[in-house]
Parts: sequence; structure tokens; C-alpha cells
Amino acid sequence: MTSIASPMPSPVGPSAASSVPASLAPVVLTPPALTPPSSPDSPWWRSAVIYQIYPRSFADANGDGIGDIAGITSRLEYLRDLGVDAIWITPWYRSPMDDHGYDVADFRAIDPLFGTLGDAEALIADAHSLGLRVLLDIVPNHVSDEHLWFRAALTAAHGSAERDRFIFRSGKGATGELPPNNWQSMFGGGAWTRVDGPDGTPGEWYLHLFAPGQPDLNWNNPEVRDEYDDILRFWFDRGVDGFRIDVAHGMIKHPDMPDLDITNIGTGNGVSANMDPAVLGRAGRNDHPHWNQPGIHEIYRRWRAVADSFEPPRIFVAEAWVDQLEWLADYLRPDELHSAFNFDFLVSPWRAGYLRETIENSIAALGAVEAVPTWVLANHDVIRQVTRYGRPQPHGRARRHVGDDPTPLDLVLGTRRARAAALLMLALPGGAYVYEGEELGLWEVEDIPDDLRQDPTFAQSGGTNPGRDGCRVPIPWTADGSSFGFGPDGGTRPWLPQPPTFAGVSVAVETGDPESMLELYRSALHLRTHHPDLGDGPMAWDESHPDVLSFTRGDSFRCVVNISPAAVPLAAYQDILLASAPADDGLLAPDTAIWLSI
Ligand code: NOJ
Ligand code: CA
Repeated sequence: MTSIASPMPSPVGPSAASSVPASLAPVVLTPPALTPPSSPDSPWWRSAVIYQIYPRSFADANGDGIGDIAGITSRLEYLRDLGVDAIWITPWYRSPMDDHGYDVADFRAIDPLFGTLGDAEALIADAHSLGLRVLLDIVPNHVSDEHLWFRAALTAAHGSAERDRFIFRSGKGATGELPPNNWQSMFGGGAWTRVDGPDGTPGEWYLHLFAPGQPDLNWNNPEVRDEYDDILRFWFDRGVDGFRIDVAHGMIKHPDMPDLDITNIGTGNGVSANMDPAVLGRAGRNDHPHWNQPGIHEIYRRWRAVADSFEPPRIFVAEAWVDQLEWLADYLRPDELHSAFNFDFLVSPWRAGYLRETIENSIAALGAVEAVPTWVLANHDVIRQVTRYGRPQPHGRARRHVGDDPTPLDLVLGTRRARAAALLMLALPGGAYVYEGEELGLWEVEDIPDDLRQDPTFAQSGGTNPGRDGCRVPIPWTADGSSFGFGPDGGTRPWLPQPPTFAGVSVAVETGDPESMLELYRSALHLRTHHPDLGDGPMAWDESHPDVLSFTRGDSFRCVVNISPAAVPLAAYQDILLASAPADDGLLAPDTAIWLSI
């Protein structure tokens, strides 16, 4: 790969002017894209586009206001036709839902809200028959306080085998009334909760880096390691193709559990209330006492052996909010995990310099361990990109903040940029994730009334942080119906209110509209699947204006993204394959991306 950022190249080449249409490039839909084939050189996951399903918000088949497995199954053909290669389903296991499923009470059971184990098995079979692979979500850092292990720990004595599966410590102070250290919960407040001893008097404290209902496990306990091997096998035996690993950098804690130097906090898991994009992914520290401890890698070498013992081998994607791409690459060494979300890309402001640097550094750092980047613009934890990009740049803050966000919001501009960002992401080397609703251009719903907010972040921060509900509002499938087709008409109201404007961005309204976000994603995904130069493989930067990203893939594909405030001329090309906005007279308008054959 070359990397060149230089002034504007010489004017448009001879073939350009004649082949620029006055409107969007015609969309040629090819037959449904199934999962790319695996080859020893490039297994499927190195190029795959994986669609994230947040089950509560996707589709509600039984009309109780909460999405479910039958709802997902009913929409699999939509996903096949969209052109993705696989789905990742966030936790569907039995859970009291303190953190909407990331508090797991039983990994081998489906929560009744979502369905049954039989429903899950049927979904996996149906997805496979449509050519879609299936990833689940494994949550190893913590379980629910309703997990049988934790219940047993609560009634067991200090120093017992039951308590050793978790992180119980005596408190500080004369009577142990102070927490063992100053660690903070990612959702706000302290990370320790004190429990009563068996005799009813206040006793030890347990660690929960997230909600109090999510006690952290002790990964130095061999029983914990064995249990997770077994959970992996349980689902791999049922045909699951891989796992997304929750808080993948968090399981090992410093043996001394020292206080955190809060003047030098690093970034760790970006859920923390004071996250700032200037810090996230750039600064930080390599001695954080509970993130990215070196012992984590031994766990993944063991998991890799489990995944490789299946035929075909299963895969992992890590959710690891580590501060340096080199640290991320450590997780992707050949005997560890397959891929990891590129959150630097997600948090990058809509600025060519930031994006170029992130792309270059990611490819270089991961290439050093023969891994490919996994690009991502959205998920169920961050502000949707239409809203992020609709604010003055550089902004890019992907996390909600106390008291934000007073800056003006322009959703038309945000949508325009999100369209361009999608074409950028899907043209880059490696894999990508699409979060449900991103393909419709959904924005962050920022005006959910406080009394309807559900994310524990809101309550745990004392109402100062709005939490993540705004990106979890149920999907609109139709323009009418009491929940826009999320559930049956007249069913129970969705668990989060949908704004009336969701009617206009429903699947039904966007289908067939050549200017819709949905048709842009469909076209891009189908082109990507069938284009030999896209997905895994090299890229090379072209000479371009510093505020323009221009790169080629192979011999015949070019992506140009104009992030400057003025239209820029396009260099010679053969045809426009796809554009995020009309490209007139050989000029690429601001905040526009184009795919060209050259
Ligand atoms: C990351 C998940 O994406 C988020 O939704 C969850 O709250 C935390 N991990 C804790 O499990
Ligand atoms: Ca339901």
C-alpha cells in the first residue's frame, strides 16, 4: 500500500467528462449475495459484511412490544436480499435484562421474552439455508447477579469456592465500610457493591465494572475457564459460526487491584461517561489495572483452539476498546482472535485527515500480524452516525456525555455524510459491520422522555447521561401500523417510543426508491460481493487534495470521497458504479463518495 497525500492532481482525464451521468448511477441488482466462499488464502470472515441484530428492537412477532427470535426469523430474507454475509445477534440468553441481556443468568437457555432454544436452533438452520452465517455474543467479563453461581456465592462464606468464581474483597476503613479501591462502574458510580454476610451483617464487596447486577468473574479460577469453553462448544455444536466477544479486553484484573490514577485514565471501554474522541484511541496507558492486562491473551489462545477444533472452524470478533492499534493487533495474532471492531474508525470525525490516518494506521498495525481491519460505523452503544455527522466537525464524539449535546444538528447533512461514509467503509480492505437501522439512515432519537428511558446508564448516572436508548429505538418496517410494522398492528406499544418521522424511513417506504439509504446499501453490498477487488486485499492511495480520500483496489476499482467544502474534479475513469449523491460534469460534490471502474 502506498500512502500519498498531496495537492490536487492535474485535471479530469479525457474519458471522464463523457461518462459522467447527470444523476445517480443506475443500480444494477445482481442475484442475492450469499456468503463469500472461504479459501485458504482468504477465509470468509476476512471480507464479510456482518449485520448486527439487537433482538429487542428488530422485529416483534408476538406483539408484546419487544423484539423476538420469531421476528428475526421472519426477516431473514430481507437480510439475505440486503446482501450481507452473516448476522451477529446480541445476547438472547436468559437474563433479568438489567442491561438488556448483557447480564446473563444462563448461557444455555434463551430468555422467554425472545423465545425458546428450539426457536434459536430453527433460526440458525433457516439462516444457513439462506446462505447467512450466524454469530452470537458471548459475555465473559461478567454474568447476572441472578446466575446460579452468583446466588451461591451470596450465601457462601468469605473465602469459599463459590465466592472465588467472582471478585469479592474486604472493604477498607475501620469496619470495611469503604470499597476496596476507587474503580468506577462504566455506567456511573463506584464499581463495588457491599453484600451482607451469612449472619446478616455487612460483609464483603464484589466488583462490577458495569451495573451492580453484572458481577465480574474471576478468570484466574480454572472453573470459570472450563465453563466458558463449554459454553462455546454448546453453541458451536448447534451450528453457530462464531462469537462477538463482549468487553474482550476486560477479564483479567491486575493482581494487586491498585487504585486507578484518575488523572491518567486512558480510555478503556468507551461506555465511561467522560469519553472524549480526542482521547479515545489515541492517548491512554498500557498499565491500566483492569483493561488490556497481558494475561488476557492466554484465554484467547485457548478459545482459538476450541474454535479450530470444529469443522468448519468457528470465528471470533473482539469488542476491545484499547487505546492503541498495536494493542488491538495483539488480540489478532494468528493463534488468537480473527477480528476486532475498528472503533478508531467509528469515532473518527468526518474529516479526511482523521479518517486517512485511521485507515493507514489500522491496515499497517493489523497487517503486521496478518490480520485485516473490521470496519464499523455504528452499534447499540454509540450515537448513530447520521446524528454524529450532522453536528459540526470535527466532533465525532460517539458516546453520550453529561449535559451534551448543545451543538446544532443538521440531519440532512448528517444523512448525506452517512451515505458517503457507507461507501467509504464498504470499499476499504477487510470486513465490515452494519448495525440494524443504519441501512435505513435512522438517526439517534434524542428526545425520549426521561420516564421512558431504559438504559441503566441513565439511572446510574443520576439522570445526567441520557444513555444508549436513542440508538435502540425499534425498527420501522412499514409506514403505517401502530409500531410501523415492528410488531403486529394494535400490539403492545414498543418498549421504546418511535418518533412519527420513522414512517418516512421505513423499509417499505425506502424499498425501490433509488435515492434511499436502503437502496444505496443494497447496491453497495451487492456490488461488493461480486467485485473481485473488494473485501480482503490491498489498497493504494491516489494522489488527491488533502480533504479528499481517493484510493484504488486492484486494477479496476476506485473510491473517491470528497470531504472538502467544494466540489472537486474526478480523474479519468470508465464508469460510475455507484455514488452517494449525484455526480455532475465530472465533479464530485462535497460530502459525497463515488465508486468508479477505472
Ligand atoms: C458492551 C456492550 O456492547 C454493552 O451494550 C454492554 O452494556 C457492556 N458491554 C457490558 O456488557
Ligand atoms: Ca415479542
